[in-house]
Amino acid sequence: MFLVKGGRRLCGEMEVACAKNAVLPILAAAMLTDEPVTIEDCPNLVDARNMLSILETLGCRVEARGKNVVLDASRAESHEMPEQLSKRLRSSIFMLGPLIGRFRRARVSYPGGCEIGQRPIDLHLKGLRALGVTIREAHGMIECDGARLRGADVYLDFPSVGATENVMMAAVLARGKTTIHNAAREPEIRDLQNFINALGGRVHGGGSDRVVIEGVKALGGARYRPLPDRIVAGTLLAAAAATRGEVHLRRACPGDLGAVLDKLRQAGCEVESGETEIFLRARTLRPFEVSTQPFPGFPTDLQAQFMALACAVEGASVIVENVFENRFAHAAQLRRMGADIFLSGRLAVVRGGKLYGADVQAGDLRGGAALVIAALAAEGESRVENVELIDRGYESLENMLAALGASVQRI
Ligand code: UD1
Repeated sequence: MFLVKGGRRLCGEMEVACAKNAVLPILAAAMLTDEPVTIEDCPNLVDARNMLSILETLGCRVEARGKNVVLDASRAESHEMPEQLSKRLRSSIFMLGPLIGRFRRARVSYPGGCEIGQRPIDLHLKGLRALGVTIREAHGMIECDGARLRGADVYLDFPSVGATENVMMAAVLARGKTTIHNAAREPEIRDLQNFINALGGRVHGGGSDRVVIEGVKALGGARYRPLPDRIVAGTLLAAAAATRGEVHLRRACPGDLGAVLDKLRQAGCEVESGETEIFLRARTLRPFEVSTQPFPGFPTDLQAQFMALACAVEGASVIVENVFENRFAHAAQLRRMGADIFLSGRLAVVRGGKLYGADVQAGDLRGGAALVIAALAAEGESRVENVELIDRGYESLENMLAALGASVQRI
């Protein structure tokens, strides 16, 4: 758990680590090549470590060299995902595309992950079927036969991030051209494209709603540094705002945080940005409205943290969650700290004001980060339990916050 003493302003400067949501598919895509791949500054996250364990189980050699990770999948020969590991994180579903691309077959179990709504994988499977893959689902396992894998037009009913990435990875080594229509436009997809192209792939359009993949016979090796984590950056900005602090983030990709910086300004923060830097100063804040959307809209992965911020701002803020149907579990915990939150379906109305320290439990990764933000802004001491969920997506959040002057201790 974290022991948080609230009431201190966050102040200082910090560099933002590489993005979890970029690293996970990139690690999976390393299975597509026989040549060694170096991922620079690979964040030390529980989810990334689990993904590396999956790769090792599949026969990929994994070696840590300082902050870098070197992967060598030349001797990988298994197309079967270990069931226990895949249950532990949803991103294990990312192995489907690379395994089909490389071995023309894959066997995985239904994935685990955060409890935030149904999170089905029908769009992943539909996309793979469009590429000629035969899929059988039985006893919780998914068996894919990709003997007839070939490029095709894929239409996604919803711009799913994971489905876009899976189809991209399956299509890289397929014969012919694949076009993904209504693709997700998240920056992490552009990053996956850049990684695949660094290996010698031919992908373009990543970051737009139409991604084109021209199949190649084989891929080579590369060194690659994934893009900065916009969700970590947004979390630190929300924490600084909630404590009326002042932070300067370096390597922070303001271009990928447009909707978030706009909300912070609406809330009354002073925000300035350079090409890779963000500076925020918060003094007197006002309520705001947030409505989550696929990129470039406001990210659902910052909804909880902004709800915590709203709790620390005098007046009524409104939050609408459009991406996941069940992503307000943190509200009940925030109420334990004195927050006044009205919920109805996908809508939350927060009447912000004063927060008081309390014992609370993280229920999921981003919800956990939200509780830490509320604890930082609260009067008195809080204990935030289940921090192992927070460790899935933040590399020692307590050290990051302590470096900015907060009192957070891991116990
Ligand atoms: C990714 C991110 C996650 C983020 C989410 C939305 C990673 C590792 N995770 O998750 O942090 O919260 O994008 O920005 O990158 N859906 C279906 N059928 C499918 C797939 C998705 O109905 O086959 C629905 C989901 O239930 C959800 C919505 O589509 O309501 C968005 O999901 P998706 O974009 O696929 O999110 P993930 O890739 O799981």
